[in-house]
Amino acid sequence: MRIGVLTGGGDAPGLNAVIRAVLKRAEQYGFEVVGIKYGWAGLLNMDTVPLKYSDVEDKIGEAGTVIKTSRTNPVKDEATMNKCIENFRKLGLDALIAIGGDDTLTAARKLHESGLKVVGVPKTIDNDLKGTDYTFGFDTAVNAAMQAIESLKTTARSHDRVMVVEIMGRHAGWIALYSGLAAGADLILIPEEPFKVSDVVEFVKRKKPEKGSLTIVVAEGALIEDYKGPITKDVKVDQYGHVYLGGIGEFLAKEIEKATGFETRAVVPAHIIRGMSPTAFDRVLATRLGYAAVELVRKGVFGKMVALRGTEIMSVDLSEAVAETKLVDKSLIELKNALAS
Ligand code: F6P
Repeated sequence: MRIGVLTGGGDAPGLNAVIRAVLKRAEQYGFEVVGIKYGWAGLLNMDTVPLKYSDVEDKIGEAGTVIKTSRTNPVKDEATMNKCIENFRKLGLDALIAIGGDDTLTAARKLHESGLKVVGVPKTIDNDLKGTDYTFGFDTAVNAAMQAIESLKTTARSHDRVMVVEIMGRHAGWIALYSGLAAGADLILIPEEPFKVSDVVEFVKRKKPEKGSLTIVVAEGALIEDYKGPITKDVKVDQYGHVYLGGIGEFLAKEIEKATGFETRAVVPAHIIRGMSPTAFDRVLATRLGYAAVELVRKGVFGKMVALRGTEIMSVDLSEAVAETKLVDKSLIELKNALAS
């Protein structure tokens, strides 16, 4: 068997751990593994690299991806899709393991429907994939964001300032919510719950005199009521139609300072939370998923995504996995709001 493996979309800590587990299990079965570089772009350009377990044996704790990634959309039109299928055949592949988030796996599902033998592995720091309880990378990103928020709280306290921390999270506020709760932020704003700037200003006016300093966590994709869509840095869109988010923290900080007179700073940890060495949880999850993906390939089961459900690793249909975005559930929203009151 000759298996291709690719990583698509934004990188997430744990990608190398998946690749490592894929290689270990594949070599035990005598399968050959080829790295397809830069996600789907590598399949389109036939840009590949032979992989051996010894190449990645020591990379379990390294964030990023040794086979690189990109946001290339292989299903943007029929010609591109056909090229992928043709190149899969030309490369002599028997199976493809696609490690990615919603975009990568939606493409994988479409290519599978057109005959490609693909198994998906869920990845995103955003944790917004429906078919799995957790995606690897999330736990690491949460811990990194929590540490950033905690240090910002310390300096905010010294200066009696309001600190606004903008945290990654495009459609769902999982990272902002978990890191904000874990660091004891005063207010957490997420895309699932559009807010009014005036309500945030009222909150600051009420709480700041009592507490001295305040820390507000806002997800980059959080939505302001009566504002058209999320705040963006650039109107350019990527191949999947996503705009370049960013700027809501700065915007909010200015509004707060203008309306209250309290000194307010905005900080954006941004990609820093994506580059940290994976936590033990993410390393183990990634390893389990990589191993399970090879087991599916060996059994000839395609069109599936390996997933964590409870404490078990199982497989779900790719179509189910990408059917909708997994948003923060109501009980957690209630909890964060109760703590902010
Ligand atoms: O999808 C993961 C993610 O980190 C999002 O939270 C964020 O909006 C996006 O990627 C940033 O993408 P890029 O690395 O292309 O700027």
